Amino acid sequence: MAEILIVADRDAAGELAARVVWEYLDGVPEPVLGVATGSTPEPLYRELARTRGGRDLSRLRAFALDEYVGLPAGHPESYREVLRREIVEPLGLDPQHVHVPPADAASLPHAGERYEAEIAAAGGVGLQILGIGSDGHVGFNEPGSSLASRTRVKTLTEQTRRDNARFFDSIDDVPRHCVTQGLGTIRDARHLLLLAFGAQKAQAVAAALEGPLSASIPGSIVQLHPHVTVILDEDAASGLGHADYYRDVARFKPEWQGW
Ligand code: PGA
Repeated sequence: MAEILIVADRDAAGELAARVVWEYLDGVPEPVLGVATGSTPEPLYRELARTRGGRDLSRLRAFALDEYVGLPAGHPESYREVLRREIVEPLGLDPQHVHVPPADAASLPHAGERYEAEIAAAGGVGLQILGIGSDGHVGFNEPGSSLASRTRVKTLTEQTRRDNARFFDSIDDVPRHCVTQGLGTIRDARHLLLLAFGAQKAQAVAAALEGPLSASIPGSIVQLHPHVTVILDEDAASGLGHADYYRDVARFKPEWQGW
């Protein structure tokens, strides 16, 4: 079962998630981190920057989950730019080691194969940070995505475009397409760290963690994975049926057990 940790708020979640990430980064010589974008990972990235200390992270390789199609290079909401602002600069990463799915028109026909090959060449993702959309997506794998899908072009749902309109001047500026790691790609990561905050995520979180495994709720793929850590604030956890049990598991977590 996934380890489901329910904390008071986003800041507490950021602190806990950072402990999970540092345990991974400090524990392997060639770390490969899967990175999410959007609002959800922001408290984690802030906490990583705050607690980085003297660590040299220039060897760390990172792979984004997804990228919009159709934004001009350097657009502030392209995920390449978001990651430059949120992790490359604050954590002192080498920009050459931070990979984003190729999403320019010329690259699209082979974007999926190319990105999968880059991930494979790096040895696969060790720890994958994930958010979940209010429609249950992970990466940009919208409802209906094959549970075995690999990196490819996807069409965004209207729900996702509405949710992400806050980052753009208007919903008309939100791209309709993206290149996203598939659910099969995400499942290949050795450890998944799923974060979700706010009441608007409660339904998707409950469906993903406690509902049936289904392409209609792409986040339910966490149920297929042997090593998943989920960190939720109280609001995002409010739809869970077994929250008392998850709290017990966390309270009695053995000291010898790592993340
Ligand atoms: P958010 O998006 O972090 O901006 O809420 C999560 C997601 O779409 O996966």
